[in-house]
Amino acid sequence: MCYIPPVPKARTVFACQACGFQSPRWLGRCPDCQGWDTLVEEPVGTFSDAGRHSAAERPSVVQPIAAVAAANTDRKRSGIGELDRVLGGGVVPGSVILIGGDPGIGKSTLVLQALAALSREGPTLYVSGEESPQQIRMRAERLGINDGPVGERLLVLAETALERVIAHTKKVSPSILAIDSIQTVFTDHLGSAPGSIGQVRECAGQIVVHSKANNLATFLVGHVTKEGSFAGPRVLEHMVDTVLYFEGDRGHSFRILRAVKNRFGATNEIGVFAMRGDGLQPVSNPSELFLAERPVEVPGSVVVATIEGTRPILVEVQALVSPTSLGTARRTTLGIDSNRVALLIAVLEKKMGLQLFGHDTFVNVAGGIRLTEPATDLAVLTAVASSFLDRPIDGSAGQTCHVDFCSICAL
Ligand code: TYD
Ligand code: MG
Repeated sequence: MCYIPPVPKARTVFACQACGFQSPRWLGRCPDCQGWDTLVEEPVGTFSDAGRHSAAERPSVVQPIAAVAAANTDRKRSGIGELDRVLGGGVVPGSVILIGGDPGIGKSTLVLQALAALSREGPTLYVSGEESPQQIRMRAERLGINDGPVGERLLVLAETALERVIAHTKKVSPSILAIDSIQTVFTDHLGSAPGSIGQVRECAGQIVVHSKANNLATFLVGHVTKEGSFAGPRVLEHMVDTVLYFEGDRGHSFRILRAVKNRFGATNEIGVFAMRGDGLQPVSNPSELFLAERPVEVPGSVVVATIEGTRPILVEVQALVSPTSLGTARRTTLGIDSNRVALLIAVLEKKMGLQLFGHDTFVNVAGGIRLTEPATDLAVLTAVASSFLDRPIDGSAGQTCHVDFCSICAL
């Protein structure tokens, strides 16, 4: 009788597609992010061979910090002022920049415009896993970057296999690389589907290694899930140098690019753009844009100065207070923390005697900006009081708010 050795079973793991949590067995609910039905079986991935090879080629040394050669951090300026500002002054060679946002917000448009602008310094390569070269050309025509010297130096590639992308990059050695999107590329090392957490992590890992080894700045476009996190999300955020988040309201033309992590600049810096027929145009005076549609002398509308990154911005806080038709009053907020608004309403009730408990209160920050500064509390208080009392705030005076018994103005 002959002995047939058992065929070793391929090792798999169940990975949460929302947060990256791993479990040896299937679970209906992720114990980490509490998402339902997010665990998918994936082969166990070994961290990239590319990473191991490059580590073997360049042996590490222990040395005094004074002996470390200074890196070339000459930033490449795109000339798109708002993008350069968010990046901390320009693109640092060898850095990896993740740009996330909802579908259709303008990520591909921004990256293509940035590559066109940066092609002054040498060829740039835009790799798309989502659009064909013809579609990219149509977009470039719209943006007016399809001909002239830019048309020659802006290279495009429709490819999703990571190994081939890296091979092409080595051949054309661009000064900047963009991959649109990280969820569409896949590596042969793993058997799981493109977009799965294992693939996203492995591909991003290989791209980071490639980018650092070749001092090549790389933009990664990342889709955001409906819960608001990058699919394959937190795993990517710690791998890359910079995380930019594209926000905006579909109903409005303006878009906000926010730096949530930046190893080479300040975080919480924002860039403001307006989406026009010919692409994203930087907006150097966002206050003008945010206040453009503001009604004057209307109860519930207050303008507040808030600091975003390094610059002050004027935004409008709108409040609507109306008697509730239900048993319990609703407190709905947009662009500001609802718990904070609930607290401020309680202050108005308790300290100022406004009887708001029988009223629905809606607070909105116009323009899709998010207010986090505590200094904006006063604006919320005055907007709610103004709407409740049906008395407009006098914007021209600047000294008094014209709200009865306002403790701030002491009237
Ligand atoms: P896109 O960059 O494709 O979004 P994403 O890559 O984030 O999914 O942007 C698509 C939207 O932008 C689409 O609704 C059309 C609009 N758009 C303009 O308004 N003007 C333009 O010049 C371009 C290129 C797109
Ligand atoms: Mg896109």
